[in-house]
Amino acid sequence: MMPGAWKQSHDVEGRFNTLVPRLGEGPLFAIADARVLELHPHVRKALSRPNVTLVALRAGEAAKSLRTLELLTRRALALPRKLTVLAVGGGTIGDVATVFAHTFKRGVGRLVHVPTTLLAAVDSSVGGKGALNVAGAKNVLGVFHAADEAWLCREVFTTLSEAQLREGRLEAWKMVVTLDARRWVQWRVKLPNDAEVIRVSRALKNALVDSDPYETKGLRAALNFGHTFGHVIESLSGYRVRHGEAVGLGMLYALDLGVRQGVTPQALAADLERVLPVKRARLTQWLAPKYRARAQALLAADKKSGWVLLKSPGHVSMLPFGTAA
Ligand SMILES: NC(=O)c1ccc[n+]([C@@H]2O[C@H](COP(=O)([O-])OP(=O)(O)OC[C@H]3O[C@@H](n4cnc5c(N)ncnc54)[C@H](O)[C@@H]3O)[C@@H](O)[C@H]2O)c1
Repeated sequence: MMPGAWKQSHDVEGRFNTLVPRLGEGPLFAIADARVLELHPHVRKALSRPNVTLVALRAGEAAKSLRTLELLTRRALALPRKLTVLAVGGGTIGDVATVFAHTFKRGVGRLVHVPTTLLAAVDSSVGGKGALNVAGAKNVLGVFHAADEAWLCREVFTTLSEAQLREGRLEAWKMVVTLDARRWVQWRVKLPNDAEVIRVSRALKNALVDSDPYETKGLRAALNFGHTFGHVIESLSGYRVRHGEAVGLGMLYALDLGVRQGVTPQALAADLERVLPVKRARLTQWLAPKYRARAQALLAADKKSGWVLLKSPGHVSMLPFGTAA
């Protein structure tokens, strides 16, 4: 099988140091969030082995760059292609590690994700996508490269702030409202604990990606709900608005557009807005006329062909760009 060919994520739970021996004695290239190494010394300790090359990166959108890809490649130059890449971090570390795993010597032997943010656990470490930002435009270079395993190490989530947890929950709400009408009804009454939020979100995303692993059938569109304007906000803010919050604001924008277009029922929009942990006031500033031209340019650079609108719980529809203001 081609390295990185689509397969559903094989999830393993446990403390990080108890899982490392699963990787064996072969060459291991570990790409880790420097902050996670500081906060969780047992992670660094478990990686202090002769067969491990550890590269610590500062997380954030700046890490998703060609510069980082070059740095990783230089550090790995003498290593063989048949290499295990271990990505320990949030979505930005996971994205750049995925691009590295796909491109280093035309594809490494094995890729293992260890998501350390709730957002990465519910979303970015499932589905096989990795991407880099170029010239301020988000995710414009990217690959499909499915991970061989994902490790869910609950102890690392204990150092996440409330704001970081909210970002993960926003992506989880996106998954449930667009893909699972039954769960939407249940979650509206009471959001389950984070372990269940992770389990459900990963299962929903795995199943959806399985039906369209390389995005050739348009079936993955639901995953982009809130992302079109979300990416615009991220870029306009110079990435000061973080991805999870930007997606939350993007969902509000998509709800407004959906209601205006007669696609999204008003009551559904109000219900979703009520449960989303994001403030509408934070959206208004990005709609100011001074941002309009740049927003249009960013939309033109967007890979997506249109807006993802919510039709009913579990169902989305597309509105091509240019159809609506
Ligand atoms: N590939 C995909 O399918 C996909 C899907 C969704 C999002 N994404 C991408 O994911 C990125 C956002 O991911 P993110 O929100 O995880 O960002 P991130 O990787 O920048 O992490 C956010 C912050 O959390 C810190 N952090 C990480 N783990 C921590 C821990 N355990 N305790 C305390 N702090 C910790 C990081 O150091 C960083 O400061 C975006 O670039 C987005 O485009 C990709």
